[in-house]
Amino acid sequence: MILVAQVSDTHFDLGTRNVERAQRVMAYLADLRRRPDVIVVTGDITDSGKPEQYAEARSALQADLPVLAIPGNHDERAAFREVLLGAPPLTDPVNHAHRVGSLTLILLDSSVPGQSGGRLTEETYDWLHATLAETPADDAVLLALHHPPVFLHSPIVDSIALAGPERLAAVIAGDERIIGTLAGHAHTAAVATFAGRPLLMGPSTASVLGGEWELAPPERVMDYAPDPAIALHVVDDQHRLITHFRTVPMGGWIGTPF
Ligand SMILES: [Fe+2]
Repeated sequence: MILVAQVSDTHFDLGTRNVERAQRVMAYLADLRRRPDVIVVTGDITDSGKPEQYAEARSALQADLPVLAIPGNHDERAAFREVLLGAPPLTDPVNHAHRVGSLTLILLDSSVPGQSGGRLTEETYDWLHATLAETPADDAVLLALHHPPVFLHSPIVDSIALAGPERLAAVIAGDERIIGTLAGHAHTAAVATFAGRPLLMGPSTASVLGGEWELAPPERVMDYAPDPAIALHVVDDQHRLITHFRTVPMGGWIGTPF
């Protein structure tokens, strides 16, 4: 099997709280009996895109396994590239592909500079098609992006979701290798389908955002009480996708004989 850990919406903001929560999550992943093959960070790495916040992220998200990050609406591509990736501070989309075993992960930058809502650019679609064309025919493919391409009945998130999701849906529907899509942005663990495949929203390590049964606009309520949470995606030998969500207690574990 292949194990993909998803960390999301860390919102590094130069305060100690979000750093400690991300460090706790990374320590949890490092201590697993079967460690992940890769860690995917689905956007909003920082709270406001400052270089110093990316320096916090670079330090807190360090691991001796691949860590792949894409921007969210709170990020800034130039600082993201320069500080987090150690690359020239260009402002074109930050897209990545990574292959582990027979799984190809394709991470798409859905951020739009200066806006909270998401969109995949023409350039990103060209890159996605080229990457899929180079992907082995018998690989499984997992897509990841920050903005969910469906409404989640989460009032704040739905107002700044992915624009033009039909185009991404057509790509997924036309490629049987794509076993699912991972998203962030929602600040809650959530599950849906999109283009007939699973769509998994990884929770935030920083805070929880309620659904419409909990919030009514213009309320803007983030719940900062819950412990950080992550998603663990298993891709089994039949290329089936199985997802576990896990809360990582800041106070550590209390083990009980089973
Ligand atoms: Fe976020």
